Amino acid sequence: MNANQDWTAPAVAPPANGCDPLAFLGAAVAQYPDAFSFQSRVTRCVFLNHPDLVKSAILNKDIVRTELLKTVTGETILTSEGSFWAGQRKAALPVFTAKKTIDYVSVFHRQCLAGLERWAQASEPLDFGKELDQLTLAIVSESLFGQVVDKEFCNSFSVLLDRIAKIQNATVFNHSFSIHPDDNRKLKDAQDHINETADNIALASPAPETENLIQILQEKGVDRDDGYSLKNYLRNEIITMLIAGHETTSVSLSWLLREIASRPEIEANVVREVDTVLSGQACRAEHLHQLEYLSRVLDETLRLYPPIWLVPRTAACDVDLNGIQIQKGQTVVVSPFFLHRRSDYWKRPEEFNPARFLVKKESLPMYSYLPFFASRHICIGKHFAYAEILAVAATIYQSHRIELAGDDSPKTPVGAGSLRVQGGMQVRLLKRDDT
Ligand code: HEM
Repeated sequence: MNANQDWTAPAVAPPANGCDPLAFLGAAVAQYPDAFSFQSRVTRCVFLNHPDLVKSAILNKDIVRTELLKTVTGETILTSEGSFWAGQRKAALPVFTAKKTIDYVSVFHRQCLAGLERWAQASEPLDFGKELDQLTLAIVSESLFGQVVDKEFCNSFSVLLDRIAKIQNATVFNHSFSIHPDDNRKLKDAQDHINETADNIALASPAPETENLIQILQEKGVDRDDGYSLKNYLRNEIITMLIAGHETTSVSLSWLLREIASRPEIEANVVREVDTVLSGQACRAEHLHQLEYLSRVLDETLRLYPPIWLVPRTAACDVDLNGIQIQKGQTVVVSPFFLHRRSDYWKRPEEFNPARFLVKKESLPMYSYLPFFASRHICIGKHFAYAEILAVAATIYQSHRIELAGDDSPKTPVGAGSLRVQGGMQVRLLKRDDT
């Protein structure tokens, strides 16, 4: 389509209660690959799937974050816009620089070794998704806050994330939203546990030799005059970083390790590269950029299975988006999952092919590859996540292989909150010497 031509977003039938969000959107994308709209229980949703339209929406300051996540985490860097968000982003940036990431690699490596030690004791196949949740939570909490949160924290988080997914499915996909009193009790207990842990993290004095996020946020202060207390501010930001920084990397690692484990040729290439680059040493920051093949496997994993597969936004006022009229309060939806599977941008898009990323990512068509989103809200933890995933995968493959236990057929992703492996991921960890 000509850049100056007006676009349209034809209406499709609303999603039925209980529908599979991926199946519903997939059918509509097959009919209208660039844009379409549908009525949700709450409002009209406009789904944008052409890179030019996605770009216009992302760059438009009147298309803002929804209130969805705010109901659970309060106002934080992940849920806000405007000057409050800009202040949070500026404050947090120093702990996410490339230089800082170098410091974290020893944490990634050490926590992964501790995981390997735990996993080696298992006599039954491991529920690896859960193990990776625990590992990535320990990594992000130690790296950013100098403290490792307890194991139970993961369970409380799952309750919270489950509620977020339910709210998203109800507001966008018309799922009925009935909540049993027991569910509310569980959520309350989970929130109390999460809040208490976050408050304890905030209270514990950070190691003086390292500048960590708590110190930075404490020094910065709340910067608002609406009664938002420092305690709530710190609590919300800590919880946000733990949510944003563990589930995404855990899910990416699940998909990555699954792809490697189920493709002997890819596994052989990964093992060869890890052995060459690490040459028997502990994984360090300088090894990471040499893991070129593993990086391509990761890029391809994030193309097919972007953890944040759906990004909903709201129009803050009436907006004309390249001819598509969006009224104030209506929802705008972008999905990296469908964007990454456009056959006019990706040859044989359903095929797992790391060689696609032999070209530099910067040379891909703009706004066609967005696992970390783009523009002002591009993931602040992108370099952290990338380094973490490479370091963990390299550390595992340096000494072990992963064998999928049970059903090893290709898995359909489940688009709940993030894009999880359907039915979880059961694995056996085998020592490489023994295989
Ligand atoms: C593979 C791993 C990850 C993926 C795919 C990912 C993806 C994303 C995406 C798509 C967004 C945009 C969300 C939106 O604007 O609504 C985002 C934002 C964000 N991410 Fe990540 N993320 C990952 C890892 C991390 C890690 C490890 C951290 C922190 C340790 C983190 C912290 C954040 C924060 C704080 C934001 C909000 C940024 C802002 O609005 O300024 N993420 N991420």
